[in-house]
Amino acid sequence: IVSWVFSSSDMFKATAVAEPEGFQVTAVPTKPIEGQKTGTSGLRKKVKVFQEPNYLANWIQALFNSLPEEDVKGTSLVLGGDGRYFNKEAAQIIMKIAAGNGVSRILVGREGILSTPAVSAIIRRRKAQGGFIMSASHNPGGPKNDWGIKYNYKSGQPAPESITDAIYGNTLSVSAINMADIPDIDLSSLGVTTFGSFTVEVIDPVPDYLELLESIFDFDLIKSLMNRPDFRFKFDAMHAVTGAYARPIFVDALGAPEDCIMNGIPKEDFGGGHPDPNLTYAEELVTEMFGPDAPDFGAASDGDGDRNMILGNHFFITPSDSVAMIAANAQQAIPYFKDGPKGLARSMPTSGALDRVAAKLSLPFFEVPTGWKFFGNLMDSGKLSICGEESFGTGSDHIREKDGIWAVLAWLSIVADKNRGKVAGDTLTSVADIAKEHWAKFGRNFFSRYDYEECESTGANKMVEHLRGIISSSKPGTTYGNYTLHLADDFMYTDPVDGSVATKQGIRFIFTDGSRIIFRLSGTGSAGATVRLYVEQYEPEVSKHGLDAQEALKPLIDLALSLSKLEHFTGRTKPTVIT
Ligand code: G6P
Ligand code: ZN
Repeated sequence: IVSWVFSSSDMFKATAVAEPEGFQVTAVPTKPIEGQKTGTSGLRKKVKVFQEPNYLANWIQALFNSLPEEDVKGTSLVLGGDGRYFNKEAAQIIMKIAAGNGVSRILVGREGILSTPAVSAIIRRRKAQGGFIMSASHNPGGPKNDWGIKYNYKSGQPAPESITDAIYGNTLSVSAINMADIPDIDLSSLGVTTFGSFTVEVIDPVPDYLELLESIFDFDLIKSLMNRPDFRFKFDAMHAVTGAYARPIFVDALGAPEDCIMNGIPKEDFGGGHPDPNLTYAEELVTEMFGPDAPDFGAASDGDGDRNMILGNHFFITPSDSVAMIAANAQQAIPYFKDGPKGLARSMPTSGALDRVAAKLSLPFFEVPTGWKFFGNLMDSGKLSICGEESFGTGSDHIREKDGIWAVLAWLSIVADKNRGKVAGDTLTSVADIAKEHWAKFGRNFFSRYDYEECESTGANKMVEHLRGIISSSKPGTTYGNYTLHLADDFMYTDPVDGSVATKQGIRFIFTDGSRIIFRLSGTGSAGATVRLYVEQYEPEVSKHGLDAQEALKPLIDLALSLSKLEHFTGRTKPTVIT
């Protein structure tokens, strides 16, 4: 270790703090920057905020300051992202600071590309100490839009609050950035570059992830479906990261035709779109799936590849149903689950369709707060295999993130399984048939979510206070129109593995017939407050399963709006997005 000062053209003086073999590390003076608290899914801000001097570097250094030395020195880290604007610059900054803090190896996706599930898979498979995901998920990209960074630790799971809180604390005191004086790394070609004790390996984003999927699903079974002349498949990568995976997986490995992929080239601005796979933003796919001559199966994934939407010909599978239907058919259709799933779980606002599957299969079942991280402990302790959220997230314990392409392969496996042994001329069992059969067996949980995005925070908070007032004075047995209150509360969760408690996770009104009204403020919005209203009604009666969800839920939605005085508090007469 040497102490060495050089004068730079900057106002600051930088000090060399260490001289590992092959390069030099300089302690670049910095000052704390306000507002670097990470939300549910890492630090997300506008690109121009991250472009401010040291903004990203401070956070990365604060992260290294937060980790125990053995998690940094001499370790391997994975680095990749969804291909959005600023990722390439960010990758260079992150690699220099990683080297400066003693990390010995970085595995980085070619062109900085790795989907979120792939990062999780690679951390686990290559036994890395953790990894960085450069993404703002489904938020738009480009110079005027969003950027984000998230740290996952060695199980492949997003860092727990104990780490993110420590990072935030360190952003408020960080005074020097340990920067290695290595040159920018060429991310365009595969290979290993070594600077003494520090190595960067540029990896193909696909093989680790594809091999994992091959170990989970019966690829021959899915191929047999893809080869049927009466089955047409479409996948919309929304100009985002799954564009890098779609062709090698769906076309090369599963035999789907080239033209099954829409918007398949990742772009820095996602083609100007909003890469969120839902009925509003995946408009191009939705138009095709609900148009004349619609394909049989349609799917889309978001910016970083962890979300999914599943469609049939003129048919939408709501995510709450999707996880329930995957769980009900997993043992039969997916080799990974051949001994049956260990347990099932959903986030609190997700409909109770999954609960009914768990009950029928006598499986352990868990209801956790919104946020994928809550599934991790259950998976690590062997209590959980399949889980999902209403927010278009579905996955399993093969990794520790939700997984868009996994969900598509799960659904393809189910459709293929239901059509096993059929010959030319037999009618194909469709996505819609599978859903209707499921409802006939389990009943249908009608579900919808109303989003009121970018509300003024004061009004939104007052509405939540108003609702808390109602629940504190509410009594079971009170009737609201045709509904009788079973319980009203602010959801609280105690983790059965480590005993940690999460409070104030959403206001619930649960009625005696199982119907629910839930209010939450989003934890992922980047401006103002986003109010989410979730409504759910259980319908056992098969003759009513064909109803439109909005129609079936109208009385509950009206009740929710009047109970909450939403219009009064937020000034909104209608939601910005309905899913
Ligand atoms: C991210 C998280 C999910 C969460 C979703 C919605 O995608 O990974 O776990 O369900 O955001 O969160 P929000 O707080 O915006 O409703
Ligand atoms: Zn995402």
